[in-house]
Amino acid sequence: MKIAVLISGRGTNLQALIDACAAKDFPAEIALVISNKSSAYGLERAKAADIPTQVVDHTAYSDRPAFEAALNSVLEAARVELVCLAGFMRLLNPDFVNRWKDRLINIHPSLLPSYKGLHTHERALEDGVRFTGCTVHFVRAEMDQGPIIAQSVVSILPGDTPDTLADRVLEEENRLYPKVVRLIAEKRLRISGGRVQIDRDPAPNSCVSSL
Ligand code: GAR
Repeated sequence: MKIAVLISGRGTNLQALIDACAAKDFPAEIALVISNKSSAYGLERAKAADIPTQVVDHTAYSDRPAFEAALNSVLEAARVELVCLAGFMRLLNPDFVNRWKDRLINIHPSLLPSYKGLHTHERALEDGVRFTGCTVHFVRAEMDQGPIIAQSVVSILPGDTPDTLADRVLEEENRLYPKVVRLIAEKRLRISGGRVQIDRDPAPNSCVSSL
């Protein structure tokens, strides 16, 4: 399966996907990495792996529809079958989201539907919740919403700061995202009634991650 990864920054999730795709038996390849920022470090990661990159700079377009039309042309020209948002920090309009419906996924640093939006770790610490984590979901028009594919749970420890927590959640993100891409590429997901069903081996033993 040909995938595109959309980034805005450092790209550790992109790196996790690059590493996974390097394995012979991985059923997906990254056809293109797109960033809305030319300074995104993730672009260097893609170049180091010989993956084509493209910058679609949102500031160069008059409005969001024009930016998204450009994004769409680039994705279509590369014949991409799945778009993975990986720290892509632009909201996408319903037109774009609907065009890519069920072929557009996102990773978010919280256990959705809790803590949509920004500053997820600060807010989790402020609330004193004992667990947080990350979620991979199909994208819908509403921010950080859409059928949940997989989640990993991370314990909040005494003395955690937003940074220490972010580091542990990120480790789980990097582990989870490639697993989800594999499931999609192997066509083992079905969306029914707004929920995702996974064809897989018997339920995992761990209660810490849903994959
Ligand atoms: C990740 O923590 C990702 O979940 C988050 O941005 C970070 C990107 O890190 N995404 C969002 O908050 C989107 N709502 P990375 O560039 O190292 O992959």
